[in-house]
Amino acid sequence: ETFDAQGLHILPGAIDVHVHFRDPGYTHKEDFESGTASAAFGGVTTVFDMPNTLPTVADAASLSAKHAIASAKAHVDYGLYAVLGEDSIGKVPELIEAGIIGFKLYMGNTFGRIPSPSTGAMLEAFEVVAPTGKRVSLHAETNSIMERRQAQLTAAGRTDALAHLASRPAVVAVEAVARAAILAEWTGARIHILHISSAAELGPLRDAKARGVDITGETCPHYLMLGAEDYARWGGIIRVNPPVREAANQGPLWAALADGTIDMIATDHAPHTPEEKTRADIWSVDCGFPGVETQMPLMLTEVANGRYCLTDYVRWSAVNPAKVWGLYPRKGVIQVGADADLAFVDLERAWTLRDGELHSRSKVSPWDGRAVKGLPVHTMVRGRFVVKDRALMADTKGFGRSVHALQQMPVPQPRHLDETIAAAVAASPPGVAA
Ligand code: DOR
Ligand code: ZN
Ligand code: ZN
Repeated sequence: ETFDAQGLHILPGAIDVHVHFRDPGYTHKEDFESGTASAAFGGVTTVFDMPNTLPTVADAASLSAKHAIASAKAHVDYGLYAVLGEDSIGKVPELIEAGIIGFKLYMGNTFGRIPSPSTGAMLEAFEVVAPTGKRVSLHAETNSIMERRQAQLTAAGRTDALAHLASRPAVVAVEAVARAAILAEWTGARIHILHISSAAELGPLRDAKARGVDITGETCPHYLMLGAEDYARWGGIIRVNPPVREAANQGPLWAALADGTIDMIATDHAPHTPEEKTRADIWSVDCGFPGVETQMPLMLTEVANGRYCLTDYVRWSAVNPAKVWGLYPRKGVIQVGADADLAFVDLERAWTLRDGELHSRSKVSPWDGRAVKGLPVHTMVRGRFVVKDRALMADTKGFGRSVHALQQMPVPQPRHLDETIAAAVAASPPGVAA
């Protein structure tokens, strides 16, 4: 059977290494079916789902439960993260055994109230994970800084959305990135800095890369394309952690993508309901907004504007995510045949993003009404159309598979390993292929 893709460009399907699909526990916001449908409409063929669901994914039982949900509902392929926290350090072997794409460590407060480990526990966690080769993705914000700021702003009676930005100045992230990089360097752990939002974080990231630390980073469309002036228009809707910052950060973030300091684009797809996004008390507004479906049109618009070229985009959206998580060349490249994960895009198509047309259960974002150029028309996962002519194909629910078994992470050389840790690690061999 042949297929006519005339007039369309064929790209590797995007790999979004940072989504919150809320399943189980918060399925009024999203579930694996709606989240992966939204991904498919956005040209995204693989997603890595965050563990701040209910229950938190922090042991083999909660992980297996999520695997059962995802394999029954997913339209696209996925990987699952598990929390690396003080209570799960001892569960690293069972989590790897039960099938994860990587670990998530919350240095800062987030939705789902996951306790942040102390610096001491973080060092120990890195020591335990380093010999397994698994990458630790970090929400790098320092609680003790932002808690004091928020208390000051609350006492001053600030209730406007900009107070959110004021409570989390860039130093909140800079301090956390620098500290994480030092601990990764000390232990040999592989780390990934999630949602880089400021120019200031690029310093410690660049320095760590120059020292040979195995550290990677992502930024998101909202940090590249929105600025402090957008708070007046969007109010609580634009609230996200880390916050959208002053527009002066955008240029350095783009430049860091171009020079490879930032390795990839991810979305931090964080769906909430309209009620949860528009509460009067700004401090109780749930943070984040959907992004998995709008990333490709937003980024392709910048290709159309001549900011960078299509091969740059593919490197940030597919090639680098696949390489960093050991999925390359099985994912992230164009492959003719049964393994094809492809986005067929119309680069000439000018259209307008509308929240109401999103396939996410969450239909509230700061992209509503934005003019874009570039439309994913068909999406193929492992050789099968999941979306064709902008329609979800029948019987693709449950077609998505976990990609953890494809992962090849060569085991690095851990450093400064304490004898006790070394013995514990030797007793439970890493569950990853070399
Ligand atoms: O804005 C955010 N929303 N930042 C996070 O770190 C978590 C996410 C969520 O799960 O809602
Ligand atoms: Zn985060
Ligand atoms: Zn997130």
